[in-house]
Amino acid sequence: MKDTPINYNVVKTKFEESNLASIGKASIREIKKLVDEIERETGDKYIRMEMGIPGLPPSQVGVDAEIAALKRGVASTYPDIQGIPELKKEAARFVNLFLNIDVNEEGCIPTVGSMQGGFAAFITVNRMYEEKDTVLFLDPGFPVHKQQISVLKQKSESFDVYNYRGEKLRDKLESILQKGNISAMLYSNPNNPSWICFTEKELQIIGELADKYEVVVLEDLAYVGMDFRKDLYTPGEPPYQATAAKYTDNYILFISSSKAFSYAGQRIGMMIISDALYNKKCPDLKKYFSSDQFGYAMIFGTVYPLSAGVTHSAQCALAAMYKAANDGEFNFVDEVKEYGEKAKVMKKLFTDNGFYIVYNTDVDEPIADGFYFTFAYPGFSGEELLNELIYYGISTISLAITGSERTEGIRACVSLVQRSQFPDLEYRLKKFNEHHPVKEKQL
Ligand SMILES: Cc1ncc(COP(=O)(O)O)c(C=O)c1O
Repeated sequence: MKDTPINYNVVKTKFEESNLASIGKASIREIKKLVDEIERETGDKYIRMEMGIPGLPPSQVGVDAEIAALKRGVASTYPDIQGIPELKKEAARFVNLFLNIDVNEEGCIPTVGSMQGGFAAFITVNRMYEEKDTVLFLDPGFPVHKQQISVLKQKSESFDVYNYRGEKLRDKLESILQKGNISAMLYSNPNNPSWICFTEKELQIIGELADKYEVVVLEDLAYVGMDFRKDLYTPGEPPYQATAAKYTDNYILFISSSKAFSYAGQRIGMMIISDALYNKKCPDLKKYFSSDQFGYAMIFGTVYPLSAGVTHSAQCALAAMYKAANDGEFNFVDEVKEYGEKAKVMKKLFTDNGFYIVYNTDVDEPIADGFYFTFAYPGFSGEELLNELIYYGISTISLAITGSERTEGIRACVSLVQRSQFPDLEYRLKKFNEHHPVKEKQL
């Protein structure tokens, strides 16, 4: 029996009872269940870093608007599939003021979370041209997107961008896109799980190649405004949220309200389709949809049969949050900055105790502190590290399930960790380091 921060025998027994072959290979929900049980049995609280859920209260502007909408009786009427007019108007303003791009309101379409936006996009983009039937993932990425491709029985390719940052990205992308089978390329920016942010140069490369090879850029802005190295909240003034939309007219942006507005529970996000793509005509679409126009096919051919639109009151809430942000009355960036501040402290606790950050730069700049960070420990694979950290009261997920080639890595999400837990975290990391001395040759 080892002197671990969490009772060794309880962890061992609970792990055996769970029938999991390895904690390091378990899904996020399986880890959550196991840790819930250990916490119940021991009464000890874990440093919970496995799930990417908001740790802040929902935006009050949204809650107030939603309650008012329900009281007005909106629950009894189906909202328009393409979105209520007020939301479409404020979404177009939002991308104009915070991303500095111009989009017609028509192309701003609510979805049931960005999650449904991604699903709808895969269905539609892979039907535009017979020969373009494969989505390219710029990994590491959000595992659910791969699950979506799999249930749709669609094809995907992927590569880890870690080794292809900066100008190297061009040759790598070109080597894949020139085959002619790629319909779209997807990435999140800032990135889940690594929190890397593409540089302007990289976004320009992505945009240029999207035009050259007629590939749709699927830019997932689940963490819009959250590259805290710059203050991205001044409506209509630089600096703006970086986006490939500055460099191509061939894009769909997915703007989640889950993290930036802490509105995950209401399941609403926006899909922003560029004017050029919205109006694009692709004869092959006619095989599946009543129209060959991309935007029309997306709304009435794909979004309609998925859920016939998005919860009416949630649309009113999002319209109000955008309006307040657009009018300079709701600094949503300030409200979530706490994630970055916690990450800064936590990363230091890890690195002071023998750990290192896996994805640690954006080409020539240190990575931002944000919602996630990635770490590893000399001499351990990610799976081994996860298996061991569970005895030290720290729960996380392995990078291996995110398409990362850095299989020694672990993803940590800072949102649920309270500042009052920092002393516990420090003690546990110290103990881990004490029990697993780093050998000279591993450094
Ligand atoms: C990269 C990424 N995309 C999409 C989502 C899903 O967002 P939503 O809650 O809007 O469906 C998440 C949520 O964690 C995410 O990290």
